[in-house]
Amino acid sequence: EKGNYRHFMQKEIFEQPTVVAQTLASYIHRADNAVALPQVDFDLSTVKRITIVACGTSYYAGMVAKYWFETFARVPVDIDVASEFRYREPVLEEGGLALFISQSGETADTLAALRHCKEEGQTIGVVVNVPTSSMAREADLLLPTHAGPEIGVASTKAFTCQLAVLAALAAHLAVRKGRMDRAEEQEVVRHLLEAPAALNAALDFDDDIASMAHLIAPARDVLYLGRGPDYPLALEGALKLKEISYIHAEGYASGEMKHGPIALIDESVPVIVLAPSGPLFEKTVSNMQEVRARGGKIVLISDEEGLADAGEGCLATIAMPKVHPLIAPLVYAVPVQLLAYHVACAKGTDVDQPRNLAKSVTVE
Ligand code: F6R
Repeated sequence: EKGNYRHFMQKEIFEQPTVVAQTLASYIHRADNAVALPQVDFDLSTVKRITIVACGTSYYAGMVAKYWFETFARVPVDIDVASEFRYREPVLEEGGLALFISQSGETADTLAALRHCKEEGQTIGVVVNVPTSSMAREADLLLPTHAGPEIGVASTKAFTCQLAVLAALAAHLAVRKGRMDRAEEQEVVRHLLEAPAALNAALDFDDDIASMAHLIAPARDVLYLGRGPDYPLALEGALKLKEISYIHAEGYASGEMKHGPIALIDESVPVIVLAPSGPLFEKTVSNMQEVRARGGKIVLISDEEGLADAGEGCLATIAMPKVHPLIAPLVYAVPVQLLAYHVACAKGTDVDQPRNLAKSVTVE
């Protein structure tokens, strides 16, 4: 049921504060602000390496999680799209955790990679939205997202719920590895619990984003730039736009622009820059200025502080609440989802059933 919404995708974007809160509730012990994972019969403190495998949007959630696992727990992470992983003879060391991320739990390439890792003796962790799925059944460590059924073909609420679970897992692993003490864990949990309200605040900018859709809709190509954990968000923004509006879009690590893609820039190519204020902000902004100097039209997504600093001269700006860097990837998912959604509406494409795409890809 779509209720008062025009599309399932729109409804699912707006459900995010609720479903992220639901998901967090099942991973956080409120009495002591600690992360609580399902009981498992192996010792997470012995995990030496994590191998993340997924496809599409779920893969981008994994890319964000790599930052968290490495920063918090100092556990090295390998990450690959499932269709590549299977054909590159990956080296899987003993004591490794292989982590599969999937909304449906049925994606054929991801499932085949899971079975391969199982045969190789890896511990199998699964972050999945459908608890009765094949991947859920084959997991040693089952970490469900509680996003509820996702109907729109373009994944939205499953992504932010995956991020919530992965952040909790990273904190838990860090504690088990002795890299995080109780006070630090409580601080991480406190920031995670701020996510639902921050997602709500981000959704408040829906009208502003709708009113700038006509600036992007005529474009043939759009670039998305981000740095650090916002780089996967740039990839996700580009994927959402191509899927539902059929505009060619690419995400780049902002520092890579000068190594080639900047040649594409002219006044017909909008460049969406994801740059929350913080330690990476100045670097991203300097990459953005290089684009602007070549006539690029910038849409800057940042918080008030960032917009005050660098918003001048942009084609448009999108204001986000100022949030802790940990939850920025969840919050910045909202404007890229809404932008793709409104551009697709402006173009009149079929938002919930984009051409050539299926919700669950069960062929390899
Ligand atoms: C993008 C999208 C796809 C899926 C991918 C993986 O909006 O929906 O890229 O993310 O097909 O699907 P799951 O997560 O079900 O394994």
